[in-house]
Amino acid sequence: MNKKYRKTIIAGNWKMNLLPSEVKPFADELRALLPKTKSCEVALLVPFTHISTLRRSLKDNRISYGAQDVSVHDKGAFTGEVSAEMLADLNAHYVTVGHSECRQYHGDNDFIVGQKALAVLEKGMSPIICVGESLEQRDRSLTMEYISYQVLAALSFIPEGKERQIVIAYEPIWAIGTGKTATPQEAQDVCEGIRSVIREKRGARVARSVSILYGGSMNPKNAKELLSMPDIDGGLIGGASLKPQDFAQIISAVTEVTGEE
Ligand code: 13P
Repeated sequence: MNKKYRKTIIAGNWKMNLLPSEVKPFADELRALLPKTKSCEVALLVPFTHISTLRRSLKDNRISYGAQDVSVHDKGAFTGEVSAEMLADLNAHYVTVGHSECRQYHGDNDFIVGQKALAVLEKGMSPIICVGESLEQRDRSLTMEYISYQVLAALSFIPEGKERQIVIAYEPIWAIGTGKTATPQEAQDVCEGIRSVIREKRGARVARSVSILYGGSMNPKNAKELLSMPDIDGGLIGGASLKPQDFAQIISAVTEVTGEE
């Protein structure tokens, strides 16, 4: 499967970390460390409160930015929620939907995740649709069955012709924040499986154009091996995206893999 048909994306998911006042120093440091690369898109997914400051601090468009969640509603009496239109108005590019932490703590199910993905698409942004199995599912050899189900459920909300705008992130729950990483081959097998599901539903041209990221304890040490795999088109990075040095090193791993350096 040829990677030239799709984007490589290194996205940092800050989760609920760092303060708004820390955004500009972070952005300044990251911009200074960022390797020159044409082969990789870099994005930061930050808390809603940080987006405006990040937007101002990034100055040019070498780094994209976005949010970690979105409302399924357009507007109105939904206290505490943030709409896709609000994010699009800030020129956000990506929004993660269905992160396992949102599925676990906010009760987001596949129906809600699909609605959120569609809301993001309709405002011209790209949803990063997160899927991933629990340790118990993995131990019972149910990984691919469960992931296929999640991908199919999300795809059913994506209008034909809009698939190229979506990104899928495979994040095994047992690997998130634990320091345990799927081996490159394990991650590759699932990402390849996800691409097969897309191929079966939407055809080979669509399948080869959708970027599939791996997330779960990716760090400067293991990034290169993971990113070398044919169906892994980038990373969704939690802990290691909070340190500009580590995050920049992961971006450099892409340039090593593609031979830019
Ligand atoms: P860690 O990189 O901290 O394991 O987090 C992964 C993740 O959940 C990114 O969305």
